[in-house]
Amino acid sequence: MSEIQIGDLKAFPDGDYRIVDVDGLEVGIFRRGKDFYAYENRCPHYGGPVCQGKILNRVEENLGPDKASRGLRFAAEEHIICPWHGVEFDLKTGRNRGFARYRLRPIPVKVRSGTVYLDIPG
Ligand code: FES
Repeated sequence: MSEIQIGDLKAFPDGDYRIVDVDGLEVGIFRRGKDFYAYENRCPHYGGPVCQGKILNRVEENLGPDKASRGLRFAAEEHIICPWHGVEFDLKTGRNRGFARYRLRPIPVKVRSGTVYLDIPG
């Protein structure tokens, strides 16, 4: 593991993301408040640039007490939607809810003294 300095915290607006290239490894870094999430920018489906996909809240079925559908609604969790074929991944876990083998490769990210760092696997 090697720690790489990525940039000033101010360069990462809350709710936004950045793609960085570290010696050929593309990483998507997402900021949500004080929390950061980082994943290799490579979809486990066919290798698409997943971190550059749209981010939308998960859609879920709204069931009534009789288990009949009351339509669809947005849940709290945000999903990254791969731009190539639309596979979705939870922004906070990198996991696909339907297929356990579809999971984004997490890259450890941390903030120290106002600077963002990645721990790149060696
Ligand atoms: S490459 Fe990402 S959904 Fe197919």
